[in-house]
Amino acid sequence: MRSHSGLTDYLDKNRESWTKSNAEYTDERAPVAWARDEIAWGMCKVPESEVRMLPELEGKDVVELGCGTGYFGAWLKRGGARRVVGVDITPAQLETARRLNAKYGLGLELVEANAEATGLPAASFDLAISEYGASIWCDPYKWIPEAARLLRPEGELVFLRNSTLSMLCTPDTGTVQESLQRPQLGLNRMDWADTHETEFQPAHGDLIRLLRKSGFEILDMVEFFASADSKNHPFYGEYMTVEWAQKWPSEEMWRARKR
Ligand SMILES: C[S@@+](CC[C@H](N)C(=O)[O-])C[C@H]1O[C@@H](n2cnc3c(N)ncnc32)[C@H](O)[C@@H]1O
Repeated sequence: MRSHSGLTDYLDKNRESWTKSNAEYTDERAPVAWARDEIAWGMCKVPESEVRMLPELEGKDVVELGCGTGYFGAWLKRGGARRVVGVDITPAQLETARRLNAKYGLGLELVEANAEATGLPAASFDLAISEYGASIWCDPYKWIPEAARLLRPEGELVFLRNSTLSMLCTPDTGTVQESLQRPQLGLNRMDWADTHETEFQPAHGDLIRLLRKSGFEILDMVEFFASADSKNHPFYGEYMTVEWAQKWPSEEMWRARKR
């Protein structure tokens, strides 16, 4: 599978890494996520009812870009979406999603493809979402125009990713620090030395320009901070301290509408 530029280095490496993660933990954790009723965002499961970043779901056609084990799409289908198509590049992740989709009989459509060039028909969705999927694993200069292509006019794109500040404070190996660890100039592709994964994190100004150039107007952007009861969440500790996330945002969500 090739990206538009012909570069496949990060696609293959990331697929390999997600195949491993599926065997190590995501296959085991997915049933818990699928069983959850409430839509909630990110590592700390911030309830959608608190942030209100999704449009009305009733009757909508949804594509999830980098759907992983498919739990987010399952929540959207239960929330009223007419059709949910999950796209992912890793067969092992899709196998987990297919198993749980069969168990719950939700009728999600699961497609193995690169979210930067899905091959799905243009203008066939009302909502494109990504929760740590294409939003961090795909080249933004490819996946955001692809999301725009897939959406009907007035369709919305909603995605969640790490905060830019947390990425600027993350060293090449190790956890988030209280000082800047890398320049913002040129921030986008990040090749991690320890995991051999590649992520993408365009900074806010670049992301705003890219969204607008791709035909979106920005409706909202929200940053998540740790709340008083977040201290025992495993996310804090593994990647950053809870004290850090009480002062600076750990995750951020964007909502945009296709003009
Ligand atoms: C954190 S998971 C996805 C999120 C989902 N909410 C979950 O936690 O199961 C990241 C997913 O992105 C997928 N992915 C990475 N690169 C991709 C690409 N180029 N196209 C589509 N999916 C990709 C991985 O295979 C993995 O399943």
